Amino acid sequence: MTKNGQIHTGSGNKKDNSQAPCQRSVLMAALTPYLEMKAVETWLGPLQVFRDLTLSLFHGEHTVVLGPNGSGKSSLIKLLARELYPVVKEGSSLRLFGEDTINLWRLRARMGLLSQDSRLADKPFVPAHDVVLSGFFGSVGLGRSQRPTRAQHQRVEILLRHFGLAELATRPFAQLSEGQKRRFLLARALVHDPEVLVLDEPTNGLDIGARLQVLRHLGALARAGTTLLMVSHRIEEVIPEIQRVVLLKDGCVVGDGTAADCLRDEPLSALYGLPLRVVRSGDCRQILPV
Ligand SMILES: Nc1ncnc2c1ncn2[C@@H]1O[C@H](COP(=O)(O)OP(=O)(O)OP(=O)(O)O)[C@@H](O)[C@H]1O
Ligand SMILES: [Mg+2]
Repeated sequence: MTKNGQIHTGSGNKKDNSQAPCQRSVLMAALTPYLEMKAVETWLGPLQVFRDLTLSLFHGEHTVVLGPNGSGKSSLIKLLARELYPVVKEGSSLRLFGEDTINLWRLRARMGLLSQDSRLADKPFVPAHDVVLSGFFGSVGLGRSQRPTRAQHQRVEILLRHFGLAELATRPFAQLSEGQKRRFLLARALVHDPEVLVLDEPTNGLDIGARLQVLRHLGALARAGTTLLMVSHRIEEVIPEIQRVVLLKDGCVVGDGTAADCLRDEPLSALYGLPLRVVRSGDCRQILPV
């Protein structure tokens, strides 16, 4: 429910949500939104990605977004990162951290981002270490005017050791494997200790050990007070700390609730358009074909 006592279900989308497989009905009174989208319309070239999307995300409420390829998950992240803008029209709004027109630097200070696009590929000689360090400045690599402090250097060293990256730190970022790059980019997203950490498929390309380590780290961050927003294709990555699951299909929120509500056979079969069975072992769920 919203502060006004209304149920919010990510409604107002292209399709009628009355048949949504799971609906959100948690009391939200104590939570402050970092994203408030109302009737948002967005285009990517000739394609209308969102026609009428209404969705709020809250500090302290760790959330995962699931959905088929092309459903709009990365576009949602781009709206949050101000890499994509909604159509300006009456009745439509997008507020980030309570502001209609948040300055990009203030946004970056409050939000850590691990996206699917890497601008870093264009800079072949930036050492991996500087990819992390330059996260403090929102740049790719360090310019002459940027003078990192001793504390910033120490923070980078700690993260690199934590993610087992110290030995790779002097290598050019562009020459690392995909999984190694992903780990450096996660360290970069975390380097300034953001309030909200936004992750688009964070474990893509990671080996089993690295994936489990990253998930453990995300759980620890969530418990320590960093708000997580994660896009994933794997329900086994919905760690117990994640309280909210948003199901996105064709640019519409078709489900919005707890893991227990949404990570079930019926909602997920409807989401992906084929019969699926969810099996559970302790806190971990997995999908099996029927
Ligand atoms: N640069 C672009 N120009 C035009 N259309 C695009 C562009 N990028 C994405 N799209 C389209 O926008 C829609 C939403 O894409 P988006 O990347 O948000 O999907 P997604 O849910 O993240 O998919 P995936 O699971 O494959 O990452 C898709 O139909 C996609 O083809
Ligand atoms: Mg994507």
